[in-house]
Amino acid sequence: MSIKGKVVTLRAVEEEDLPILHRWGNDPDLWALLGGWRFPSSLRQTRLWFDSLAGDPLNQRFAIDYPGVGLVGTANLVDINWKDNNAFHGMMLGDPSMRGKGIGVDVIMATMRYAFDELHLKRLDGSMVAYNDASLAVYCGKCAWREEGRQRDWYYRGGRYWDRILVGVTCEDYRALVAANGYWER
Ligand SMILES: CC(C)(COP(=O)(O)OP(=O)(O)OC[C@H]1O[C@@H](n2cnc3c(N)ncnc32)[C@H](O)[C@@H]1OP(=O)(O)O)[C@@H](O)C(=O)NCCC(=O)NCCS
Repeated sequence: MSIKGKVVTLRAVEEEDLPILHRWGNDPDLWALLGGWRFPSSLRQTRLWFDSLAGDPLNQRFAIDYPGVGLVGTANLVDINWKDNNAFHGMMLGDPSMRGKGIGVDVIMATMRYAFDELHLKRLDGSMVAYNDASLAVYCGKCAWREEGRQRDWYYRGGRYWDRILVGVTCEDYRALVAANGYWER
């Protein structure tokens, strides 16, 4: 089973993806844009992470496939909460040359359609470092997410603190967006 966007496919992470994921996992420019942090990691650590995925149904991680290219990034639905019907979502395109082509919008639209129309979730949460203008623009500018809060001085990056912006989208926000822009029809 895979999750289809208009262009991208979200599929399971496979063993063959590990060398690329390992490379991205050690790219400091990419990690500066992400919410997590890590030490330099070995291919073996990447493999251990991969081995842990199968037994972790509440934390789903997807490979993003782009036609003619293959693996271009990862997306996730984690901390899935089946009682209150919410989850946390994040994504990244590993290679900068693949950014700014509309892939981010397609991944987020596909994730929302899957979360709201298939998993019956009520809302999704996300967050970003305050300087990540591209992330804020794609989630809140294009995909109907809203800024819902700001945690001051939450990240320490490049020798200073930065705010963490909390964003979220509800099932109704998503439905209103597709009714207004006809994303799946055009
Ligand atoms: C953030 C990210 C997911 C966005 O995906 P993307 O495919 O590059 O974005 P899209 O091409 O779909 O852009 C959608 C809109 O966002 C805005 N946008 C994109 N890149 C931008 C940038 N660098 N600065 C400001 N706005 C930007 C534009 O308004 C764009 O719409 P337009 O092309 O019609 O004007 C992607 O750039 C990425 O993976 N970056 C590195 C990792 C990361 O930051 N992940 C998110 C962590 S919270």
